[in-house]
Amino acid sequence: MNATIDVLLTEPVSTINPNLFGHFIEHLGRCIYDGLWVGEDSAIPNDRGIRRDVILALRQLHPPILRWPGGSFADDYHWPDGIGLPSERPHRVNIWWGNAVETNAFGTHEFMHLCRAIGAQPYLCGNVGTGTSRELRDWVEYCNFPTGTALSDLRISNGAEQPFGVKYWAIGNESWHSGGSFNPEEYVTEYCRFSTFAREFGPEKLYLVACGPSGNDLDWTERFFTRLRDRIAPITLHAFSGHYYIGRAGTATNFNDSEWYDLLWQVRAIEKLIVEQRALMDRFDPERKVHFIVDEWGAWHPPEPDHKESLLWQQSSLRDALFAGLVLDIFNRHADKVAMANLAQAVNVVQSLILTEAERMLVTPTYHVFDMYQSHQGAQSVRTLISTQEIDFTYRDEAKRIPILSGSASLRDNVLTMTMVNTSIDEPCEALLHIYTAEVREVRETTLTHPDIRAHNTFSDPGRVNLSAVRAIPVKGNTIQYTFAPRSVTKLQLLLA
Ligand code: AHR
Repeated sequence: MNATIDVLLTEPVSTINPNLFGHFIEHLGRCIYDGLWVGEDSAIPNDRGIRRDVILALRQLHPPILRWPGGSFADDYHWPDGIGLPSERPHRVNIWWGNAVETNAFGTHEFMHLCRAIGAQPYLCGNVGTGTSRELRDWVEYCNFPTGTALSDLRISNGAEQPFGVKYWAIGNESWHSGGSFNPEEYVTEYCRFSTFAREFGPEKLYLVACGPSGNDLDWTERFFTRLRDRIAPITLHAFSGHYYIGRAGTATNFNDSEWYDLLWQVRAIEKLIVEQRALMDRFDPERKVHFIVDEWGAWHPPEPDHKESLLWQQSSLRDALFAGLVLDIFNRHADKVAMANLAQAVNVVQSLILTEAERMLVTPTYHVFDMYQSHQGAQSVRTLISTQEIDFTYRDEAKRIPILSGSASLRDNVLTMTMVNTSIDEPCEALLHIYTAEVREVRETTLTHPDIRAHNTFSDPGRVNLSAVRAIPVKGNTIQYTFAPRSVTKLQLLLA
C-alpha cells in the first residue's frame, strides 16, 4: 500500500466558497479579441459578438465569478471608452500588452452579457493607476443605479434597462507595480479615497477588494493593515487579494521528468501563501471579517521558441492539469482561510481553459479539472488525512521530495466528493480509504490521465487528453481499496448510506 486516506466526516473545515472556482479575462494578447470576442458580423457563430462555442464551454463549468478587464490592463482602462456605439468608441494603446490597438469593442455591456450567458457574477477591477475615484464611483453608479440619473439613464439608453447589480469591485491591481508602483502606505491612502466613493447605488451590498502583496510578501500585508488600522473613519474592506504564478520548469510542452516534478513541487508555495497571509491578517482581523482571496493564479511558463511574440499564449498539458488539481485541493483544504480564486486566464492566455484558432476551439486538460472539481462548489470541506510515500527527485542539483498523493474531500448531503492527484510519472498509487464514520454504497470514478506526461490537446487532435467515462463501482462498508493511476487527477464520488 502506498497511501492511506482518512476522511473525517465529523470534522468540517468550512463551506467551500463557490468563488474559489472563479476565472479571469483580460485585454491581453488573444484572450478577448480573437479569443472569446469575434464581433456580431463574424462568420463564427456568436451571441452578440461573443463566440457561442466559448460560451457553451464556459457555461458547463458553472463558473461562479469572472474578473475583468485586467490585470495590468485595468489600471489604464477608462470604462467610458467601452460604452455606446462601437463605431464611436475611441481606439487606445494597450500600454501593458505590446502597445496593441485597443478598439474598445468589448466593454462593460459586452462583459455583462458574457457573465449572464455563462452564469457568472461579474467582478470588475477599477482603475487606480491612471483613473480617479470619481471615475470608479461613476462606474459603480452606471452599473448599479436603477434609473433617473444621467449615468443610469445613459446605461438604459445603451440598452440595459435593468441595472447590472455588480457586487464585486477591486480597487486597483498589483498596485506595487503596474497599478501605480505604490508602497503599502501610499496604497492605503489610495484605497481609502477610492473605497469611500464606491457607494452602494443599488440594493446589492458591494464587496470591495484591496490589492495585496507581490507573491507572499508579508511586509506589504503587515504595513497595509497597520496603516489601515490608524485610519480615523471606518474603512470598508471585504477582501485582500494575493496573486501567485508558478513556472520556470521547462516550457508548457517541453519539459523533462525532473521539470515535471519540480513544477508540481512548486505548488506548495500557494499553500504557504494562504496559511501565512491569513495568519498575519488574523493578527489584525481575528474574526476574519476581511477575506483573503487569490484573484490571479496559474502556471506561467516561459514561451515556446515558436511563440516568443504571442503575449502569454501558452499550451496547457497534462502537467498543468495536475497542477490545477493540486491548487484547487489546497483551496478546498483551506476553505476556512481563502474565499475566492481566479485562474489566469480563461482563453488563450497563461493557463487557459480554452484555446481558439479561427473558427476552431478546444478545451485544455485544465478545463477538465475544473469540470471535475465543480462538485466541490458550495460543499462542506471535511478534514482528510493522507499518509503517502514520497518521490525523491533532483532539480538543478537540489534534492527534493514530493508526495505521491494529495487531495481534498467535501460533503454535500450524502455524497462525499474526493479529488486526488497522483504525481508519480510511472507508479500507480494503491491507497486504503477509511471513511469515518459512514457506510459507502457506491463509488463513481472519473479520471484524467495520459501515457505521455507532455500530452496536450491540439487543433488536429483536440480530444487527446480527455476525461474517462464515469465508472460506477459497487462497494460496501467504510473501508475501500483503490488504485490511483500514475500521473492522474481522479474524482471519486462516494454515495453514503
Ligand atoms: O495575468 C497576466 C498578468 O499577470 C496580469 O495582467 C497581471 O495582474 C499579472 O502580473
